[in-house]
Amino acid sequence: MCGIVGYIGTQAATEILLAGLEKLEYRGYDSAGIATIWEGDVQCVRAKGKLHNLRSKLEQLETPAQIGIGHTRWATHGKPEEYNAHPHLDTAMRVAVVQNGIIENYRELREDLKSKGHQFRSETDTEVIPHLIAEIIKKSPSSLLDAVRQAVSHLEGAFALAVISADYPDELIVVRQQAPLVIGFGQGEFFCASDTPAIVAYTRAVLPLDNGEIARLTPLGVEVYNFAGDRLKKQPRLLNLNPTMVEKQGFKHFMLKEIYEQPGVVRASLEAYFNNDANAARSSQSPINLGLPESFYADIEQIQIVACGTSWHAALVGKYLLEQLAGISTQVHYASEYRYAPSPLMANTLIIGVTQSGETADTLAALAMEKERRQGKEAKYQARLLGITNRPESSLGHLVPHIINTLAGIEIGVAATKTFVAQLMAFYALALDLAAHRQSISPDKIADIIEGLRQIPKEIEATLETQESLTEQLAHQFAETQDFIFLGRGINFPIALEGALKLKEISYIHAEGYPAGEMKHGPIALLDAKVPVVAIAVPGSVYEKVISNAQEAKARDSRLIGVTPVKDGEAGEIFNDLLPVPTVDELLSPLVSVVPLQLLAYHIAARRGLDVDQPRNLAKSVTVE
Ligand code: M6R
Repeated sequence: MCGIVGYIGTQAATEILLAGLEKLEYRGYDSAGIATIWEGDVQCVRAKGKLHNLRSKLEQLETPAQIGIGHTRWATHGKPEEYNAHPHLDTAMRVAVVQNGIIENYRELREDLKSKGHQFRSETDTEVIPHLIAEIIKKSPSSLLDAVRQAVSHLEGAFALAVISADYPDELIVVRQQAPLVIGFGQGEFFCASDTPAIVAYTRAVLPLDNGEIARLTPLGVEVYNFAGDRLKKQPRLLNLNPTMVEKQGFKHFMLKEIYEQPGVVRASLEAYFNNDANAARSSQSPINLGLPESFYADIEQIQIVACGTSWHAALVGKYLLEQLAGISTQVHYASEYRYAPSPLMANTLIIGVTQSGETADTLAALAMEKERRQGKEAKYQARLLGITNRPESSLGHLVPHIINTLAGIEIGVAATKTFVAQLMAFYALALDLAAHRQSISPDKIADIIEGLRQIPKEIEATLETQESLTEQLAHQFAETQDFIFLGRGINFPIALEGALKLKEISYIHAEGYPAGEMKHGPIALLDAKVPVVAIAVPGSVYEKVISNAQEAKARDSRLIGVTPVKDGEAGEIFNDLLPVPTVDELLSPLVSVVPLQLLAYHIAARRGLDVDQPRNLAKSVTVE
């Protein structure tokens, strides 16, 4: 978790660091701080809470320093207080460090450094690093690069670092070890950051460091080394991202903008994954191109999926598709659980990790564990790993041999919306591709489903058009509600879970999603007139069942909100409020039924005056286990 930035060059660093941190606030916003070097000293300013607090403090301290590092924090070790905010300094306040990740062996290091006279000022794991570097410099002051490299050899955990020192005022050292870090190349100026949006306003030439790499940035250039000290030859590449992609573009919040970008995300996925030729779609070859080698498809007997949060919900829809279309038995696991209780080792198993950020520590750890336990086993037990991610250049991209790149574009709102729809599109493509290879359903059926998918962008557009004011009106009525229940069945059960998660995350209202048929086995006891029930009732195999389950809720006085295309008959009678969605094939319905739930959560949170894009206690990517 956390975001780090760094700058060295010819401009005043402070504003560049602040602007970069603003773009990284999605990674954490418990506190923020920057350190620069000016007139032979480290100047460090930190503030509890969001970046604007730091900005106000900095107004009294204008410095033209041309080197600096910055940090925005999601608290792990130590409370979100100013004394725990980064940058952290050594006792003599000559070395400043920002870190993203966790130093697992910080206790031993801290005790050792204390015994050598180092004075600690925070409760964090990070603070050991500047003390350790200072201790190494004290013994052999050869170079800051070397001191950081030696310090890193004592650290256990996953981390990215940026380090400056008043005694080496012309260098900025950065390190990557299992936490993201990119270097940006300008003209006589260089940048580093946890993520590209922080630097895209200044340069599009970037070099993502790999694990086990350390770099020295000076006004003259960038040198990259491995941890053994060997110089590496690395070239920057050009980013396909422009600064406007990380702006709100007239929307009040990023989340709303991202909800509205969903038709475009589906279009981009259709374009990238599916063959445009209608005749080819009805041929016996797969009309889907995911860039996977032929060997990938051979002998898959079962699938295990690991994911967290919204990605886990997408994986549940994926399970439905993989089982119903491709006929492959599929299990979906919380990555955080799977790592410590994996399924028995089975042959010919495809393991899929789903993570929009590609940096979720739980998901990466589960995949790494699976890879490790299959190493050295006979061929049929070897790991076959596939990642589904919105950030193919992420740590996930380094860990697995095959990636399906979801095409959502960068998502800034902490609550995932368009990346969820992009993950669903990846699962439709994968399930249909496997179905085509295994001939588990006919080419005509595959072609019909693809044709249905092609209609989805305009169906989402229609949904957005009708839902915007309806959900806003409902939000007005439910802004003070304390509990919500979301019901769905079959392929829409995960959508009920996702609707509940969206509401919890950004409005702080207690919400639960249930498979509608499960209510009567316990949760129905929660219902009364104060607990509204949102039921997803789309025509298809479970429509009548959902309506009956909704009736059961109504009989307990719950106010019923129906996400349904059906306006008359029983549905018209029982629902107190309707959030109409267009009629689409049940199999494709999650792509539209999720939209009103996203909007409902958004409008309730906005109505409650909450920080929609940066909800309390959360961060966009959770890089700690
Ligand atoms: O980056 P990932 O998809 O791995 O993230 C997983 C979860 O942390 C994430 O989906 C989280 O639940 C979001 N806040 C959902 O809105």
